[in-house]
Amino acid sequence: MIAKILVQCLLITCVYAISKHPILIVVSYDAFRYTSFDTELVPNMKRLKNVGTYADHLINVFPTKTFPNHHSIATGLYPKCTVSSVTAITILTMERRSRRRSIFRDYDVARASFPYQGQNITYIKTFQPDYDWSERVKTVISWITDDEKPANLVMLYFEEPDTHGHAFGPDSEIVNELIEKLDNITLYLEEQLEQHNLSDKVNVIHLSDHGMVSVTPPYFINITQYLKNGTYEWTGASPCIQIIPHDGYEDEIYKSLKAGSEKQGHFTVFKKS
Ligand SMILES: *[C@@H]1O[C@H](CO)[C@@H](O)[C@H](O)[C@H]1NC(C)=O
Ligand SMILES: *[C@@H]1O[C@H](CO)[C@@H](O)[C@H](O)[C@H]1NC(C)=O
Ligand SMILES: *[C@@H]1O[C@H](CO)[C@@H](O)[C@H](O)[C@H]1NC(C)=O
Ligand SMILES: *[C@@H]1O[C@H](CO)[C@@H](O)[C@H](O)[C@H]1NC(C)=O
Ligand SMILES: *[C@@H]1O[C@H](CO)[C@@H](O)[C@H](O)[C@H]1NC(C)=O
Repeated sequence: MIAKILVQCLLITCVYAISKHPILIVVSYDAFRYTSFDTELVPNMKRLKNVGTYADHLINVFPTKTFPNHHSIATGLYPKCTVSSVTAITILTMERRSRRRSIFRDYDVARASFPYQGQNITYIKTFQPDYDWSERVKTVISWITDDEKPANLVMLYFEEPDTHGHAFGPDSEIVNELIEKLDNITLYLEEQLEQHNLSDKVNVIHLSDHGMVSVTPPYFINITQYLKNGTYEWTGASPCIQIIPHDGYEDEIYKSLKAGSEKQGHFTVFKKS
């Protein structure tokens, strides 16, 4: 009898080496554009789209940057609501530059993981651009199948095509190659789930945080032409840049930018009081 119970327990342990809770992997491909589905670059993603379920499109939160969008994806909140947002990174840099006391002083490094209800995340891998993509997938599988602490929610991140898109443009050959490579990694994840008998136990959401468009010279916005050297600090980048006027230059800078915006027509100025 004892032997039988033992055997049963062992069996149960084997079968339930994964979490008893619903298991979800959210895969984010940074700056992956939905128009890639109109190309021949993503056969595996297209196949998944056909056998799975999909949304025609998503609407970004503003600013359409990586961190605020990921924070919103994770929390369901708009950037201005999330503690860690408009984001922690830009505000942090801004406050550092202006040497003001940071409201994010507890988080003195820009990062993607924050304690939740006093608990730290169970597994984390510090971002390393050279961290092999298939190794990332294997790591995720090892977390989900961990005997002691099986993960039931994993956020898996790929920094492409964003990184090379910024440098070479989203329509470049190198970006196309990276999109093909991402399509391969989608297949690899599927294969790994199958090999571990996890296909019907794990849900996977594939998404992107924002898209990307090419900008040609007539649309370049030269902010410095509206600003006098030595009167301001700046932080951020496209699509949202913060100008921090030195004391006494607030009105002059605002008026100059506002006039520039009306003339140039491709940017908008907001004043943060
Ligand atoms: C969470 O991690 C931080 C930084 O590593 C550490 O200082 C803190 O004590 C941890 N908190 C808990 C509840 O484990
Ligand atoms: C994708 O995988 C196939 C088959 O494994 C391989 O032949 C091809 O070179 C890979 N493409 C990229 C861009 O990694
Ligand atoms: C997956 O299931 C098959 C058939 O039931 C079994 O032979 C194999 O050992 C399982 N693989 C793993 C990694 O659990
Ligand atoms: C931007 O404007 C400034 C001031 O008018 C000028 O010196 C600079 O060359 C311009 N930069 C570009 C890239 O056109
Ligand atoms: C702007 O001012 C900084 C120092 O205040 C100086 O190093 C820099 O050369 C100046 N740039 C221009 C374009 O005048």
